[in-house]
Amino acid sequence: MNKIPVMIDCDPGIDDTLAIIMLAGSEKVKIKAITSTHGNVGLEGTTRNALALKDFLGLDCVVAKGASKPMIVSQKEASTVHGLNGLGNYDIPASVSKAETAPAWDVMYRLAKEENGQMVLVVLGPMTNVAITILKYPDFKDYIKRIYMMGGSRNWGNHSQNAEFNIWGDPHACQVVLSSGIPITMADLQVGNEYGFLGTEITELYSHAKKLKPMMDRFQRHDKIWMQSECDRLGMDFDYDTSITTKYDSTAAAALLMDGDGLETEDYYVICETQGSETEGQTIFDYSGRFGKQPNVSLVVKMDREKYHSLIRNALARFE
Ligand code: RIB
Repeated sequence: MNKIPVMIDCDPGIDDTLAIIMLAGSEKVKIKAITSTHGNVGLEGTTRNALALKDFLGLDCVVAKGASKPMIVSQKEASTVHGLNGLGNYDIPASVSKAETAPAWDVMYRLAKEENGQMVLVVLGPMTNVAITILKYPDFKDYIKRIYMMGGSRNWGNHSQNAEFNIWGDPHACQVVLSSGIPITMADLQVGNEYGFLGTEITELYSHAKKLKPMMDRFQRHDKIWMQSECDRLGMDFDYDTSITTKYDSTAAAALLMDGDGLETEDYYVICETQGSETEGQTIFDYSGRFGKQPNVSLVVKMDREKYHSLIRNALARFE
């Protein structure tokens, strides 16, 4: 079976790591590159984590360093959610690999051209690297079969009232990608919320990890700490086992791995708000066709939950 060539643009990140594990543990895809961007933690941290994950998972791929900040807006970060080192403060073995000397956008373009239009891009952080590649290489879009992105929100936001973190992190970059003409499958915030996990489900899924178990246990311990602190801040009781834990980036990986078998999408024309004082980074879905434009996004609306869980369970068990 021909494997799908994939490049992962990310800001690892606990849920980025789970998505990378799912893709690395699948027979369906071949990871050709991991590119790092600003986002959950700064570029140095996400690059260090990308290199460490490449070695820890034994990946035969390149790692390339991308943008250190958004195109125009101020830089954001989410170390509360992911830990100061971006991996729940798990002490992952330091990498012996080095990043490519060329920047992410040059590497993405070079590798995409080698795949004759079959390259798939999984985007799990702010879209700055992808936007730069599109702007620097106008024919890049001809070499990308589809983008699977975790980002956007069909209603409320998470790191701002109306915007989801990745898009809030670089709304201008998102608009460049949305208007590029590259086919896009979007796993937005609501997918991650709807297909979140009970604490007991995460415990069961992570129990299948072998070599990765210490890392997954540390991730879970960090999740419990920050979820408890959020509940304390809101004056709410907290019980991990019955609370919903979201792993947003893993829904984008699942969408790629399930495509055609267990995934339902609906097509919409979507734009990203870049001017609003309170709505910067909001993704606006043209449900009524008011803009009179052809759809540019396939929005994930349903996933086979058991298939999603088995993708995670099986991938975790693969690494010994
Ligand atoms: O809003 C969820 C997204 O923000 C995920 O990609 C997570 O890693 C954080 O970057």
